[in-house]
Amino acid sequence: MSKLSILTYPNELLQQPCEKVKVFNLELRKLLNEMHTTMIAADGVGLAAPQVGYLKQIAIVENDDEKIIHLINPVILERSGSQVGLEGCLSFPGLFGDVERPFYVKVRAQDKLGKFFILEADEYLARVILHEIDHLNGILFPSKAVTLYKE
Ligand code: CO
Repeated sequence: MSKLSILTYPNELLQQPCEKVKVFNLELRKLLNEMHTTMIAADGVGLAAPQVGYLKQIAIVENDDEKIIHLINPVILERSGSQVGLEGCLSFPGLFGDVERPFYVKVRAQDKLGKFFILEADEYLARVILHEIDHLNGILFPSKAVTLYKE
């Protein structure tokens, strides 16, 4: 599978809302595989489609068992609590910041075949999921960071 290039800020595509995925076909599965390859190569734990130039509601995240979860058309159903933690982003090389996020999140999304599922997460995984869903709305972590550090 080929690797895609990761767009970096201030690329315009990173700052726009993404469209819903309506067709679950081979092309989508190819994009998911390429996003996976790209994320692993970049040593990331999450990647959203706009970061590789597709304005589609697609994100992938690595869970606590290093398993990849596809989040297509994700919708946040519940969120609670609060946590502050350090975040970075493949679209902002060398930049890190403390971001406040909910501690717990419950999301409904579709898998690569279009099947709906519910995902609950807390702590770190909740942070990754929320960071990636923000990407699908054109929201980037520095806009939420309380402090920013340059490496
Ligand atoms: Co990011």
